[in-house]
Amino acid sequence: YPPNLQMEENSGLTQANCRAKGGAPGFKVAILGAAGGIGQPLAMLMKMNPLVSVLHLYDVVNAPGVTADISHMDTGAVVRGFLGQPQLENALTGMDLVIIPAGVPRKPGMTRDDLFKINAGIVRTLCEGIAKSCPNAIVNLISNPVNSTVPIAAEVFKKAGTYDPKRLLGVTMLDVVRANTFVAEVLGLDPREVDVPVVGGHAGVTILPLLSQVKPPCSFTQEETEYLTDRIQNGGTEVVEAKAGAGSATLSMAYAAVKFADACLRGLRGDAGVVECAFVASQVTELPFFATKVRLGRSGAEEVFQLGPLNEYERIGLEKAKKELAGSIQKGISFIKK
Ligand code: NAD
Ligand code: LMR
Repeated sequence: YPPNLQMEENSGLTQANCRAKGGAPGFKVAILGAAGGIGQPLAMLMKMNPLVSVLHLYDVVNAPGVTADISHMDTGAVVRGFLGQPQLENALTGMDLVIIPAGVPRKPGMTRDDLFKINAGIVRTLCEGIAKSCPNAIVNLISNPVNSTVPIAAEVFKKAGTYDPKRLLGVTMLDVVRANTFVAEVLGLDPREVDVPVVGGHAGVTILPLLSQVKPPCSFTQEETEYLTDRIQNGGTEVVEAKAGAGSATLSMAYAAVKFADACLRGLRGDAGVVECAFVASQVTELPFFATKVRLGRSGAEEVFQLGPLNEYERIGLEKAKKELAGSIQKGISFIKK
């Protein structure tokens, strides 16, 4: 094997040293589930991110292949692969940011909650590893059902005595990416000019786009509001059905995950005014977790923004979202507490 793929007992697949090539400053990022449908394009895009100096790719299958492939890209980040549970500790040690797309995806006819049975245990194990090996890392949790896996992660970290609510973020960026795209289509604008806040959670009616707060300021007919809300809430299902059994969104998710991870890294670097939506510990509603805009800084989600003014349609949507979210959050908490 070449140096970054040497299989050494308890040391991951590499012996390359820790500095980025050329000594460039940067952050150490681990992807857990890096060989998956999201993990592979996510790894490729993170290898292209100039803020990343070290990229650790962990999976229970095929990590050496993906690592070999990605490591040939002539960008700055040093890439190392880690295969299987015995190498989790080495994959995580020293990481600034851990991105988790590990777990099974939906097939047609399933809800995200149907994934709980398998993914809850996967997230628990990976978060136990984080608590042990990089308790100060920022965690970006992608594995579904996000509305439950984030509370699971929080309980694991509480148990380990490492919980910092600012550092645990459920990734809802794909909802924002979709909302920007679909709203731009309706308005006839470039999606890059559009900003749609999406709050609540990441499943069905818990995905609540605030179309009254779209930038640039605009207005929608009732018919447009209903079409857009429905399309944004069911964007994931649209992809699951189109893939017809071959999984759920992977490429748009990798794009969204990198957009969000890059924002987290800019926050860590100390950039001012980095604001994105995420599912975090929150006092915005009576629920312990809720997605809203957050300001990302050196210690993670440093400020959680209020919802702002809602119209009647959004107020009704908020009540529906909270009802479903309450059960999903409790299910996650109980999984660890019981
Ligand atoms: P996938 O099956 O293609 O890939 C998942 C990867 O996780 C596989 O490579 C698998 O080997 C790995 N894995 C399984 N158990 C593991 C463990 N214990 N440790 C490390 N890796 C492990 O699935 P995918 O399409 O990449 O989706 C992954 C998850 O992301 C799913 O739960 C899916 O529902 C979710 N997802 C979330 C969003 C979001 O917006 N938050 C969007 C799309 C998908
Ligand atoms: C999505 O929104 O695309 C993901 O949550 C995957 C899914 O199951 O829909």
